[in-house]
Amino acid sequence: MNPTATRRVLTGITTTGTPHLGNYVGSIRASVRASRVPGVQSFYFLADYHALIKCDEPVRIQRSTLEIAASWLAAGLDPEHVVFYRQSDIPEIPELMWMLTCVTGKGLLNRAHAYKAMLDKNAAAGQDPDTDVTAGLFMYPVLMAADILMFKAHQVPVGRDQIQHIEMARDMAASFNHLYGEHLVPPEALVDDNVALLPGLDGRKMSKSYDNTIALFGPREQLRKQIMGILTDSRLPGEAKDTEGSALFQIYRAFADDTEAAKFAQAFADGISWGDAKQALFERIDREIGPMRERYAHLVAHPQEVEALLARGAEKARALATSLMGELREAVGLRSLTSQTKAARDSAPAKSALPSFKQYREADGQFYFKLADSQGRVLLQSQGFASPRDAGEVVKRLQTEGVLALTSLADKLSPTPNASETDVQNALALLATHHAD
Ligand code: TRP
Repeated sequence: MNPTATRRVLTGITTTGTPHLGNYVGSIRASVRASRVPGVQSFYFLADYHALIKCDEPVRIQRSTLEIAASWLAAGLDPEHVVFYRQSDIPEIPELMWMLTCVTGKGLLNRAHAYKAMLDKNAAAGQDPDTDVTAGLFMYPVLMAADILMFKAHQVPVGRDQIQHIEMARDMAASFNHLYGEHLVPPEALVDDNVALLPGLDGRKMSKSYDNTIALFGPREQLRKQIMGILTDSRLPGEAKDTEGSALFQIYRAFADDTEAAKFAQAFADGISWGDAKQALFERIDREIGPMRERYAHLVAHPQEVEALLARGAEKARALATSLMGELREAVGLRSLTSQTKAARDSAPAKSALPSFKQYREADGQFYFKLADSQGRVLLQSQGFASPRDAGEVVKRLQTEGVLALTSLADKLSPTPNASETDVQNALALLATHHAD
Protein backbone atom coordinates (compact mmCIF):
# COMPACT_ATOMS: atom_id res chain seq x y z
CA MET A 1 0.00 0.00 0.00
CA ASN A 2 1.19 3.46 -0.85
CA PRO A 3 2.13 5.10 2.49
CA THR A 4 0.54 8.42 1.50
CA ALA A 5 -2.79 6.78 0.75
CA THR A 6 -5.68 7.05 3.13
CA ARG A 7 -6.18 3.89 5.12
CA ARG A 8 -9.72 2.61 4.87
CA VAL A 9 -11.16 0.77 7.85
CA LEU A 10 -14.55 -0.94 7.76
CA THR A 11 -16.73 -2.10 10.64
CA GLY A 12 -20.04 -3.92 10.40
CA ILE A 13 -22.46 -5.05 13.06
CA THR A 14 -25.31 -7.48 12.65
CA THR A 15 -28.67 -5.97 13.59
CA THR A 16 -30.26 -8.59 15.77
CA GLY A 17 -29.88 -7.31 19.33
CA THR A 18 -29.88 -4.36 21.69
CA PRO A 19 -26.40 -3.09 22.62
CA HIS A 20 -25.33 -3.88 26.20
CA LEU A 21 -22.50 -2.58 28.32
CA GLY A 22 -20.22 -5.37 27.08
CA ASN A 23 -20.71 -4.27 23.45
CA TYR A 24 -19.94 -0.71 24.47
CA VAL A 25 -16.69 -1.55 26.23
CA GLY A 26 -15.65 -4.29 23.80
CA SER A 27 -16.43 -2.60 20.53
CA ILE A 28 -18.50 0.59 20.29
CA ARG A 29 -16.22 2.76 22.43
CA ALA A 30 -13.01 1.67 20.71
CA SER A 31 -14.39 1.92 17.22
CA VAL A 32 -15.80 5.40 17.79
CA ARG A 33 -12.37 6.47 19.04
CA ALA A 34 -10.68 4.86 16.06
CA SER A 35 -12.97 6.76 13.70
CA ARG A 36 -11.37 9.99 14.86
CA VAL A 37 -7.80 9.00 14.01
CA PRO A 38 -6.53 11.32 11.26
CA GLY A 39 -5.58 9.79 7.93
CA VAL A 40 -8.17 7.04 8.27
CA GLN A 41 -11.35 6.81 6.30
CA SER A 42 -13.88 4.83 8.30
CA PHE A 43 -16.90 2.92 7.09
CA TYR A 44 -19.53 1.85 9.64
CA PHE A 45 -22.51 -0.14 8.56
CA LEU A 46 -25.53 -1.90 9.97
CA ALA A 47 -25.38 -5.43 8.61
CA ASP A 48 -29.08 -6.06 8.20
CA TYR A 49 -28.76 -8.49 5.29
CA HIS A 50 -26.65 -10.55 7.70
CA ALA A 51 -29.39 -10.28 10.30
CA LEU A 52 -31.75 -12.19 8.02
CA ILE A 53 -29.50 -15.22 8.30
CA LYS A 54 -30.24 -15.69 11.97
CA CYS A 55 -33.44 -13.77 12.62
CA ASP A 56 -36.87 -14.09 11.03
CA GLU A 57 -38.60 -11.47 13.19
CA PRO A 58 -39.06 -8.32 11.08
CA VAL A 59 -39.89 -6.09 14.03
CA ARG A 60 -36.80 -7.17 15.92
CA ILE A 61 -34.56 -6.46 12.94
CA GLN A 62 -36.07 -3.02 12.49
CA ARG A 63 -35.82 -2.21 16.18
CA SER A 64 -32.27 -3.47 16.46
CA THR A 65 -31.21 -1.42 13.44
CA LEU A 66 -32.56 1.71 15.11
CA GLU A 67 -31.03 0.88 18.49
CA ILE A 68 -27.60 0.06 17.15
CA ALA A 69 -27.53 3.13 14.91
CA ALA A 70 -28.67 5.33 17.81
CA SER A 71 -26.06 3.76 20.12
CA TRP A 72 -23.18 4.47 17.77
CA LEU A 73 -24.35 8.02 17.19
CA ALA A 74 -24.91 8.62 20.89
CA ALA A 75 -21.45 7.24 21.64
CA GLY A 76 -19.99 9.92 19.40
CA LEU A 77 -19.74 8.52 15.89
CA ASP A 78 -19.68 11.53 13.59
CA PRO A 79 -21.63 10.72 10.41
CA GLU A 80 -20.09 13.73 8.65
CA HIS A 81 -16.63 12.38 9.16
CA VAL A 82 -17.24 8.68 8.48
CA VAL A 83 -19.38 6.79 6.00
CA PHE A 84 -22.25 5.51 8.10
CA TYR A 85 -24.84 3.42 6.27
CA ARG A 86 -27.22 0.51 6.31
CA GLN A 87 -26.17 -2.50 4.25
CA SER A 88 -29.58 -3.04 2.66
CA ASP A 89 -29.51 0.51 1.26
CA ILE A 90 -26.71 -0.63 -1.02
CA PRO A 91 -28.19 -3.09 -3.53
CA GLU A 92 -24.76 -3.30 -5.18
CA ILE A 93 -23.59 -5.41 -2.23
CA PRO A 94 -25.69 -8.48 -3.12
CA GLU A 95 -24.73 -7.89 -6.73
CA LEU A 96 -21.04 -8.06 -5.84
CA MET A 97 -21.81 -11.06 -3.67
CA TRP A 98 -23.02 -12.88 -6.77
CA MET A 99 -19.86 -12.07 -8.70
CA LEU A 100 -17.78 -13.35 -5.79
CA THR A 101 -19.98 -16.43 -5.45
CA CYS A 102 -19.00 -17.33 -9.00
CA VAL A 103 -15.27 -17.25 -8.26
CA THR A 104 -15.43 -18.96 -4.85
CA GLY A 105 -14.85 -22.68 -4.52
CA LYS A 106 -17.59 -24.49 -2.64
CA GLY A 107 -14.79 -26.28 -0.81
CA LEU A 108 -13.60 -22.99 0.65
CA LEU A 109 -17.03 -22.37 2.14
CA ASN A 110 -17.22 -25.94 3.45
CA ARG A 111 -14.33 -25.03 5.74
CA ALA A 112 -16.01 -22.04 7.37
CA HIS A 113 -16.09 -22.41 11.18
CA ALA A 114 -19.70 -21.33 11.64
CA TYR A 115 -20.94 -23.82 9.06
CA LYS A 116 -18.72 -26.62 10.36
CA ALA A 117 -19.92 -26.02 13.89
CA MET A 118 -23.49 -26.62 12.71
CA LEU A 119 -22.47 -29.87 10.97
CA ASP A 120 -20.72 -31.05 14.12
CA LYS A 121 -23.70 -30.20 16.25
CA ASN A 122 -26.02 -32.12 13.94
CA ALA A 123 -23.66 -35.10 13.87
CA ALA A 124 -23.51 -35.13 17.67
CA ALA A 125 -27.31 -35.10 17.79
CA GLY A 126 -27.45 -37.97 15.29
CA GLN A 127 -29.23 -35.81 12.74
CA ASP A 128 -28.84 -35.18 9.06
CA PRO A 129 -25.69 -33.02 8.68
CA ASP A 130 -27.59 -30.17 7.01
CA THR A 131 -30.46 -29.93 9.48
CA ASP A 132 -31.24 -26.22 10.06
CA VAL A 133 -28.44 -25.10 7.78
CA THR A 134 -29.78 -22.50 5.36
CA ALA A 135 -27.92 -21.60 2.22
CA GLY A 136 -27.74 -18.13 3.79
CA LEU A 137 -25.61 -19.47 6.63
CA PHE A 138 -23.44 -21.31 4.13
CA MET A 139 -22.98 -18.17 2.01
CA TYR A 140 -22.36 -15.84 4.97
CA PRO A 141 -18.62 -15.46 4.25
CA VAL A 142 -19.34 -14.37 0.67
CA LEU A 143 -21.76 -11.67 1.78
CA MET A 144 -19.21 -10.50 4.31
CA ALA A 145 -16.49 -10.42 1.62
CA ALA A 146 -18.76 -8.31 -0.58
CA ASP A 147 -19.22 -5.83 2.30
CA ILE A 148 -15.48 -5.45 2.63
CA LEU A 149 -14.32 -5.59 -0.97
CA MET A 150 -17.00 -3.16 -2.14
CA PHE A 151 -15.26 -0.31 -0.30
CA LYS A 152 -11.72 -1.50 -0.84
CA ALA A 153 -11.19 -1.63 2.91
CA HIS A 154 -7.59 -2.20 3.91
CA GLN A 155 -8.35 -3.18 7.47
CA VAL A 156 -11.28 -4.77 9.24
CA PRO A 157 -11.30 -4.72 13.06
CA VAL A 158 -12.64 -8.08 14.20
CA GLY A 159 -12.61 -10.50 17.07
CA ARG A 160 -10.55 -13.67 16.75
CA ASP A 161 -13.60 -15.67 15.67
CA GLN A 162 -13.91 -13.55 12.52
CA ILE A 163 -10.33 -13.77 11.26
CA GLN A 164 -11.17 -16.70 9.02
CA HIS A 165 -13.83 -14.64 7.27
CA ILE A 166 -11.32 -11.92 6.45
CA GLU A 167 -8.94 -14.52 5.07
CA MET A 168 -11.72 -15.85 2.90
CA ALA A 169 -12.38 -12.33 1.63
CA ARG A 170 -8.70 -12.12 0.69
CA ASP A 171 -8.99 -15.40 -1.19
CA MET A 172 -12.04 -14.19 -3.05
CA ALA A 173 -10.35 -10.91 -4.00
CA ALA A 174 -7.34 -12.84 -5.24
CA SER A 175 -9.44 -15.24 -7.35
CA PHE A 176 -11.38 -12.39 -8.84
CA ASN A 177 -8.26 -10.35 -9.62
CA HIS A 178 -6.54 -13.37 -11.08
CA LEU A 179 -9.40 -13.91 -13.53
CA TYR A 180 -10.32 -10.34 -14.36
CA GLY A 181 -7.42 -8.02 -13.47
CA GLU A 182 -6.55 -5.99 -10.38
CA HIS A 183 -9.88 -4.60 -9.29
CA LEU A 184 -10.27 -5.66 -5.66
CA VAL A 185 -8.11 -4.87 -2.64
CA PRO A 186 -7.34 -7.79 -0.30
CA PRO A 187 -8.20 -6.76 3.27
CA GLU A 188 -6.38 -7.45 6.53
CA ALA A 189 -7.91 -8.42 9.86
CA LEU A 190 -7.16 -5.99 12.67
CA VAL A 191 -7.29 -7.87 15.95
CA ASP A 192 -7.01 -5.90 19.16
CA ASP A 193 -6.07 -8.20 22.00
CA ASN A 194 -6.36 -5.39 24.53
CA VAL A 195 -10.10 -4.89 24.26
CA ALA A 196 -11.69 -5.33 27.61
CA LEU A 197 -13.85 -8.42 27.97
CA LEU A 198 -16.54 -7.46 30.39
CA PRO A 199 -17.93 -9.93 32.91
CA GLY A 200 -21.70 -9.99 33.25
CA LEU A 201 -23.94 -9.94 36.33
CA ASP A 202 -23.03 -13.54 37.21
CA GLY A 203 -19.28 -13.16 36.60
CA ARG A 204 -19.25 -15.07 33.30
CA LYS A 205 -18.52 -13.11 30.10
CA MET A 206 -21.29 -10.59 29.49
CA SER A 207 -23.38 -12.07 26.72
CA LYS A 208 -26.96 -12.12 25.57
CA SER A 209 -26.84 -15.91 25.48
CA TYR A 210 -26.05 -16.07 29.23
CA ASP A 211 -28.80 -13.59 30.02
CA ASN A 212 -26.38 -11.70 32.28
CA THR A 213 -26.15 -8.36 30.50
CA ILE A 214 -26.42 -4.79 31.71
CA ALA A 215 -28.35 -2.61 29.26
CA LEU A 216 -26.24 0.16 27.75
CA PHE A 217 -28.89 2.85 27.38
CA GLY A 218 -31.71 1.71 29.60
CA PRO A 219 -33.20 4.21 32.06
CA ARG A 220 -30.81 5.41 34.76
CA GLU A 221 -32.78 3.59 37.46
CA GLN A 222 -32.51 0.33 35.53
CA LEU A 223 -28.73 0.73 35.36
CA ARG A 224 -28.62 1.17 39.13
CA LYS A 225 -30.84 -1.86 39.71
CA GLN A 226 -28.83 -4.07 37.40
CA ILE A 227 -25.57 -3.02 39.03
CA MET A 228 -27.01 -3.77 42.47
CA GLY A 229 -27.66 -7.27 41.11
CA ILE A 230 -24.00 -8.06 40.31
CA LEU A 231 -22.94 -11.26 42.02
CA THR A 232 -20.52 -10.76 44.94
CA ASP A 233 -19.30 -12.93 47.79
CA SER A 234 -20.75 -12.72 51.30
CA ARG A 235 -18.05 -10.60 52.95
CA LEU A 236 -19.40 -8.06 55.37
CA PRO A 237 -18.73 -4.34 55.49
CA GLY A 238 -15.33 -3.78 57.08
CA GLU A 239 -13.90 -7.05 55.77
CA ALA A 240 -11.18 -6.67 53.12
CA LYS A 241 -12.35 -7.75 49.65
CA ASP A 242 -10.52 -9.27 46.69
CA THR A 243 -10.34 -7.33 43.47
CA GLU A 244 -9.05 -10.49 41.80
CA GLY A 245 -11.99 -12.39 40.34
CA SER A 246 -14.47 -9.67 41.27
CA ALA A 247 -16.84 -8.89 38.39
CA LEU A 248 -17.70 -5.62 40.07
CA PHE A 249 -14.07 -4.55 40.11
CA GLN A 250 -13.45 -5.62 36.55
CA ILE A 251 -16.40 -3.65 35.27
CA TYR A 252 -15.18 -0.62 37.21
CA ARG A 253 -11.73 -1.11 35.69
CA ALA A 254 -13.18 -0.92 32.17
CA PHE A 255 -14.40 2.61 32.86
CA ALA A 256 -11.79 4.02 35.21
CA ASP A 257 -8.33 5.43 34.60
CA ASP A 258 -5.36 4.01 36.51
CA THR A 259 -5.63 6.45 39.42
CA GLU A 260 -9.32 5.81 39.93
CA ALA A 261 -8.79 2.06 39.71
CA ALA A 262 -6.00 2.18 42.31
CA LYS A 263 -8.25 4.13 44.67
CA PHE A 264 -11.07 1.65 44.17
CA ALA A 265 -8.69 -1.25 44.86
CA GLN A 266 -7.64 0.49 48.06
CA ALA A 267 -11.29 0.83 49.08
CA PHE A 268 -11.65 -2.94 48.56
CA ALA A 269 -8.67 -3.58 50.80
CA ASP A 270 -10.12 -1.19 53.38
CA GLY A 271 -13.35 -3.15 53.54
CA ILE A 272 -15.82 -1.02 51.59
CA SER A 273 -19.31 -2.56 51.78
CA TRP A 274 -20.63 -4.23 48.62
CA GLY A 275 -23.51 -1.78 48.61
CA ASP A 276 -21.16 1.22 48.60
CA ALA A 277 -18.93 -0.39 45.99
CA LYS A 278 -21.91 -0.94 43.74
CA GLN A 279 -23.03 2.64 44.22
CA ALA A 280 -19.54 3.84 43.27
CA LEU A 281 -19.59 1.65 40.17
CA PHE A 282 -23.02 2.94 39.21
CA GLU A 283 -21.86 6.55 39.54
CA ARG A 284 -18.70 5.93 37.55
CA ILE A 285 -20.53 4.31 34.65
CA ASP A 286 -23.30 6.85 34.71
CA ARG A 287 -20.76 9.66 34.49
CA GLU A 288 -19.64 8.33 31.10
CA ILE A 289 -22.93 6.96 29.79
CA GLY A 290 -25.34 9.54 31.21
CA PRO A 291 -24.82 12.29 28.63
CA MET A 292 -24.99 9.75 25.82
CA ARG A 293 -28.20 8.29 27.19
CA GLU A 294 -30.07 11.51 26.49
CA ARG A 295 -28.92 11.61 22.91
CA TYR A 296 -29.80 7.94 22.54
CA ALA A 297 -33.30 8.46 23.90
CA HIS A 298 -33.78 11.40 21.59
CA LEU A 299 -32.73 9.44 18.52
CA VAL A 300 -34.83 6.41 19.35
CA ALA A 301 -37.81 8.70 19.81
CA HIS A 302 -37.05 10.42 16.47
CA PRO A 303 -36.26 7.60 14.06
CA GLN A 304 -36.70 9.97 11.12
CA GLU A 305 -33.47 11.72 12.17
CA VAL A 306 -31.58 8.45 12.10
CA GLU A 307 -33.22 7.59 8.81
CA ALA A 308 -32.07 10.89 7.30
CA LEU A 309 -28.48 10.33 8.45
CA LEU A 310 -28.52 6.84 6.99
CA ALA A 311 -29.88 8.17 3.71
CA ARG A 312 -26.95 10.57 3.44
CA GLY A 313 -24.55 7.80 4.30
CA ALA A 314 -26.11 5.57 1.67
CA GLU A 315 -25.61 8.30 -0.87
CA LYS A 316 -21.89 8.48 -0.10
CA ALA A 317 -21.53 4.72 -0.02
CA ARG A 318 -23.46 4.21 -3.23
CA ALA A 319 -21.32 6.70 -5.10
CA LEU A 320 -18.43 4.33 -4.43
CA ALA A 321 -20.43 1.15 -4.90
CA THR A 322 -21.98 2.04 -8.24
CA SER A 323 -18.63 3.16 -9.51
CA LEU A 324 -16.92 -0.10 -8.55
CA MET A 325 -19.79 -2.21 -9.88
CA GLY A 326 -19.61 -0.36 -13.19
CA GLU A 327 -15.95 -1.27 -13.38
CA LEU A 328 -16.56 -4.90 -12.39
CA ARG A 329 -19.50 -5.40 -14.73
CA GLU A 330 -17.31 -4.20 -17.54
CA ALA A 331 -14.47 -6.45 -16.39
CA VAL A 332 -16.51 -9.65 -16.28
CA GLY A 333 -18.30 -8.98 -19.57
CA LEU A 334 -21.67 -7.73 -18.34
CA ARG A 335 -21.43 -4.78 -20.66
CA SER A 336 -22.95 -2.98 -23.55
CA LEU A 337 -22.97 -4.98 -26.74
CA THR A 338 -21.40 -2.04 -28.47
CA SER A 339 -18.46 -1.56 -26.09
CA GLN A 340 -15.00 -2.60 -27.24
CA THR A 341 -13.78 -6.10 -26.45
CA LYS A 342 -11.38 -6.58 -23.59
CA ALA A 343 -8.49 -7.44 -25.89
CA ALA A 344 -8.89 -4.17 -27.77
CA ARG A 345 -9.03 -2.15 -24.58
CA ASP A 346 -6.08 -3.91 -23.03
CA SER A 347 -3.83 -2.90 -25.89
CA ALA A 348 -4.30 0.77 -24.97
CA PRO A 349 -1.71 1.98 -22.46
CA ALA A 350 -3.42 1.90 -19.07
CA LYS A 351 -1.91 5.16 -17.89
CA SER A 352 -3.59 7.32 -20.49
CA ALA A 353 -6.94 6.13 -19.16
CA LEU A 354 -6.55 8.01 -15.89
CA PRO A 355 -8.08 11.41 -15.29
CA SER A 356 -5.67 14.07 -14.07
CA PHE A 357 -5.44 17.32 -12.14
CA LYS A 358 -3.87 20.42 -13.61
CA GLN A 359 -2.89 23.45 -11.54
CA TYR A 360 -2.45 26.93 -12.97
CA ARG A 361 -2.50 30.64 -12.19
CA GLU A 362 -4.98 33.11 -13.61
CA ALA A 363 -4.60 36.78 -14.48
CA ASP A 364 -6.36 37.62 -11.18
CA GLY A 365 -3.23 36.35 -9.43
CA GLN A 366 -5.07 33.45 -7.81
CA PHE A 367 -4.27 29.78 -8.10
CA TYR A 368 -6.68 27.27 -9.61
CA PHE A 369 -6.89 23.65 -10.58
CA LYS A 370 -9.09 21.56 -12.78
CA LEU A 371 -9.76 17.89 -13.15
CA ALA A 372 -9.86 16.56 -16.68
CA ASP A 373 -10.62 13.08 -17.95
CA SER A 374 -8.23 11.12 -20.15
CA GLN A 375 -9.60 12.87 -23.25
CA GLY A 376 -8.95 16.30 -21.74
CA ARG A 377 -12.59 17.06 -21.00
CA VAL A 378 -12.84 19.30 -17.93
CA LEU A 379 -14.90 17.64 -15.17
CA LEU A 380 -14.29 19.92 -12.24
CA GLN A 381 -13.06 23.46 -11.85
CA SER A 382 -11.83 24.96 -8.60
CA GLN A 383 -12.43 28.38 -7.13
CA GLY A 384 -9.39 30.61 -6.78
CA PHE A 385 -6.87 29.98 -3.97
CA ALA A 386 -4.46 32.45 -2.45
CA SER A 387 -1.45 30.15 -2.78
CA PRO A 388 -0.43 27.13 -4.85
CA ARG A 389 -0.14 25.26 -1.59
CA ASP A 390 -3.79 25.80 -0.72
CA ALA A 391 -4.79 24.56 -4.14
CA GLY A 392 -2.44 21.60 -3.82
CA GLU A 393 -3.94 20.55 -0.50
CA VAL A 394 -7.41 20.38 -1.95
CA VAL A 395 -6.12 18.38 -4.91
CA LYS A 396 -4.43 15.97 -2.55
CA ARG A 397 -7.63 15.42 -0.61
CA LEU A 398 -9.55 14.73 -3.77
CA GLN A 399 -6.87 12.29 -4.86
CA THR A 400 -6.75 10.35 -1.63
CA GLU A 401 -10.30 10.59 -0.34
CA GLY A 402 -12.00 10.65 -3.72
CA VAL A 403 -15.76 11.06 -3.83
CA LEU A 404 -15.96 11.32 -0.07
CA ALA A 405 -14.12 14.63 -0.05
CA LEU A 406 -16.62 16.20 -2.44
CA THR A 407 -19.27 17.20 0.08
CA SER A 408 -16.91 18.94 2.45
CA LEU A 409 -15.08 20.69 -0.40
CA ALA A 410 -18.22 21.78 -2.20
CA ASP A 411 -17.61 25.50 -1.57
CA LYS A 412 -14.18 25.29 -3.17
CA LEU A 413 -15.32 23.69 -6.40
CA SER A 414 -17.58 24.53 -9.28
CA PRO A 415 -18.98 21.83 -11.52
CA THR A 416 -18.68 22.34 -15.25
CA PRO A 417 -21.70 22.27 -17.52
CA ASN A 418 -20.49 19.48 -19.79
CA ALA A 419 -19.71 16.94 -17.05
CA SER A 420 -22.31 15.14 -14.92
CA GLU A 421 -21.95 14.43 -11.25
CA THR A 422 -21.49 10.75 -12.11
CA ASP A 423 -18.58 11.58 -14.43
CA VAL A 424 -16.89 13.42 -11.58
CA GLN A 425 -17.57 10.62 -9.12
CA ASN A 426 -16.26 7.97 -11.47
CA ALA A 427 -13.11 9.93 -12.19
CA LEU A 428 -12.39 10.50 -8.50
CA ALA A 429 -13.11 6.91 -7.58
CA LEU A 430 -10.69 5.79 -10.29
CA LEU A 431 -8.00 8.17 -9.03
CA ALA A 432 -8.49 7.22 -5.39
CA THR A 433 -8.11 3.54 -6.25
CA HIS A 434 -4.93 4.13 -8.19
CA HIS A 435 -3.60 6.26 -5.42
CA ALA A 436 -4.23 3.57 -2.85
CA ASP A 437 -3.01 0.42 -4.55
N1 TRP B 1 -20.04 -10.73 10.95
C1 TRP B 1 -20.10 -9.53 11.72
C2 TRP B 1 -20.81 -9.82 13.06
O1 TRP B 1 -21.12 -10.94 13.34
C3 TRP B 1 -20.86 -8.45 11.04
C4 TRP B 1 -20.34 -8.16 9.69
C5 TRP B 1 -20.97 -8.37 8.52
C6 TRP B 1 -19.07 -7.58 9.37
N2 TRP B 1 -20.19 -7.98 7.47
C7 TRP B 1 -19.03 -7.50 7.97
C8 TRP B 1 -17.99 -7.15 10.13
C9 TRP B 1 -17.92 -6.99 7.31
C10 TRP B 1 -16.88 -6.63 9.47
C11 TRP B 1 -16.85 -6.57 8.07
O2 TRP B 1 -21.11 -8.91 13.80
